[in-house]
Amino acid sequence: MAGVMVRRVHRLLTLLDIYCQGNCGRISTNLQIPGLSLSFHAHKSVMADPQAPAAHPSLYTAPPAVRGMTELDREAFTQTINVLAIRIPTSVIDKVVKSLKKVALQRPGLKRVVDDPQNQTDSDGKEHRLLLLDPQSVSSPESFSQDEANALKAFSVKPELQRYELKLTYDNLKSDEVLRAVLPEGQDVTSGFSRVGHIAHLNLRDHQLPFRNLIGQVIIDKNPGITCVVNKTNTIDSTYRNFQMEVLAGENNMVAKVRENGVLYEFDFARVYWNPRLSTEHERVVSLLRRGDTVFDIFAGVGPFSVPAARRGCTVFANDLNPESYRWLQHNTKLNKVQAKVTTFNLDGREFIRGPVRERLPELMKGSAGIHVVMNLPALALEFLDAFRGLLGPEPEREPSGEVNLPQVHCYGFSKEDDPQKDVVERAEAALGTSLQGRCTVHMVRNVAPNKEMMCVSFTMPTEVLYSSNNKDFSEPSPKRQKCEEAE
Ligand SMILES: C[S@@+](CC[C@H](N)C(=O)[O-])C[C@H]1O[C@@H](n2cnc3c(N)ncnc32)[C@H](O)[C@@H]1O
Repeated sequence: MAGVMVRRVHRLLTLLDIYCQGNCGRISTNLQIPGLSLSFHAHKSVMADPQAPAAHPSLYTAPPAVRGMTELDREAFTQTINVLAIRIPTSVIDKVVKSLKKVALQRPGLKRVVDDPQNQTDSDGKEHRLLLLDPQSVSSPESFSQDEANALKAFSVKPELQRYELKLTYDNLKSDEVLRAVLPEGQDVTSGFSRVGHIAHLNLRDHQLPFRNLIGQVIIDKNPGITCVVNKTNTIDSTYRNFQMEVLAGENNMVAKVRENGVLYEFDFARVYWNPRLSTEHERVVSLLRRGDTVFDIFAGVGPFSVPAARRGCTVFANDLNPESYRWLQHNTKLNKVQAKVTTFNLDGREFIRGPVRERLPELMKGSAGIHVVMNLPALALEFLDAFRGLLGPEPEREPSGEVNLPQVHCYGFSKEDDPQKDVVERAEAALGTSLQGRCTVHMVRNVAPNKEMMCVSFTMPTEVLYSSNNKDFSEPSPKRQKCEEAE
């Protein structure tokens, strides 16, 4: 019992020591421990008892005074803390540091080998420096592993620890440490963001909004290359799929340069759709294409399917209704020197299918090269499939054995149903007016939100869809299915 009490007191003294560091030169307090009451005084000291545990994992907590700060005051994060250090002869310091690298202090912008403030030279005349140790790994000489202890012995370094008074600043804290110290205690701190070139894109919660400019500034400070931070201010715009956004910090420059799967794109992030989480899906679909194939990209955006498809040697017809997307799509074909392979259109998807696609399909279907139709507008694309019904009019006369080269369709849809696979296939069938059973594959692209999946249905366009002029006997999509919610 006495041993437990001593350990509790020791632990409390350690915590008080930490509290005291940087906040006060001297504190007095009364400790209340069941069955024990005592008063004590603690001094901030440079060289305290080397055996006493000086540091604690919460050491990197910023000073309490920063809590609630809404305008970033970097100076307010400065504090002095005590860490443990080991004294090492300068002649072997590189080798010892290598052996102790797992337990050495690692903080952004901090030197871990420092001059010894006591500047003592040993009786053998050797000069020494101090290696600062990570308080989360080392609290006493016993904390060293066997290998580390052996290395110390081999280099004749005494496993004795001493305290070192370290100045810790805003620059030495990580962004989540800064934000955790500032935002209300116990509330979710997010320093996560999507990166689009030089832009960090956040989706802040209500309780974070009073701190939004500070959060933006911290993200800029802590992430090299980010010079602009924006917050989404509404759900995705219903037509062009772009967000309304507010600049929280940094330059008001929305023209981003992004490399995706080795291809360079430029676009105005505020006015077009771009989602860095789709890069794997873009790559997956483009990998299905072969040189000489033709691609119809119905909802092309700024070109993340069309441009790599053209680079792969495909002939591309790319369309987008948003005049800004269309402009940047054209820009990106030039940027990547594939403008000769990509014909661009600024039409509604149904008009594009019923115009440029219809004009080209019959000829392409006589050939043997692949024909692909990509439809990435997941909130609505499945319903757009109805534009293919009867697209080519009455079926032409063909040799009985004549194979038809039909388009391969990759159509995206969101689903909130328990069986998203079944749901998207049924919606595709309803729009096409025919069954896809045994004739399609479904790929789960990503989880967009809790209970909301993005799916891709791929199938060969059935001849009965393209050629029948009227197949109304198949059910139309129900109003419930047509309704689409926007929460990307
Ligand atoms: C989800 S984004 C996909 C863009 C691009 N394919 C990608 O993977 O990043 C959908 C695109 O469809 C465009 N769009 C929306 N409604 C459209 C319509 N009725 N016809 C054609 N394009 C449309 C939007 O402007 C947007 O660029």
